[in-house]
Amino acid sequence: KNPSFVVVAVDGPAGSGKSSVSKATARELGFDYLDTGAAYRGLALHCLDRGVDTLGPFDVIETLPRFEYTIGIDPDNYFVKVGSEIVTHDIREPRVTGVVSNIARIPEVREYMVELFRGIIAGSDKPGIVVEGRDITTVVTPDAQARILLTATEEARMERRAAELSGESSATTAQQLSYRDAQDSKVVDFMNAADGVITIDSTNLDFDQTVTAVASFVRSSM
Ligand code: DC
Repeated sequence: KNPSFVVVAVDGPAGSGKSSVSKATARELGFDYLDTGAAYRGLALHCLDRGVDTLGPFDVIETLPRFEYTIGIDPDNYFVKVGSEIVTHDIREPRVTGVVSNIARIPEVREYMVELFRGIIAGSDKPGIVVEGRDITTVVTPDAQARILLTATEEARMERRAAELSGESSATTAQQLSYRDAQDSKVVDFMNAADGVITIDSTNLDFDQTVTAVASFVRSSM
């Protein structure tokens, strides 16, 4: 790999604006963009479609060799494919969101995903990549040049998520969001910045200001 290749690791809770901010930052810097949550969602969908109980770790682990996963890392051509099927939108369905934490807490699944992500990062042909998730700064790429924890108050995150999912009542959304964060943070701590990780709080920043803050930090780290 080119020694000047830049890895930007971004972690944070659901609704922190991580995905859209990471994608826009990648665009601004001419980098690739890797959404890691999509792979956990893709595996959850794969299990649901095959009737595999996501609460049964052994059954989930058994499906891994048959999990064929492809993701577009060009920020202008984002897509997710499981097997031969494009599932970019299907992986956002509530039935997937509802069970994804079950599979994300299986250690064998996490180990599989870390290797998958490192392989995808190694395949980038851009000058760098923005990788976004929950354990990127700590487990996937702890030696990334720029490591960021993107946070916002719970209230701000609920509001943003409710605006995204305008069909659902905000009370349900808020409940689901805090439930999922509570489940997920038992497995990886993405609420507190690890050593060497900078916290960017987007509570009082709009989208463009957040992207500018992230991109400036990355430029100062290169
Ligand atoms: O960011 P997201 O909502 O698409 O993530 C989906 C789920 O995957 C989330 O509930 C936590 C899990 N996840 C994880 O455990 N580690 C990651 N690096 C990314 C996501």
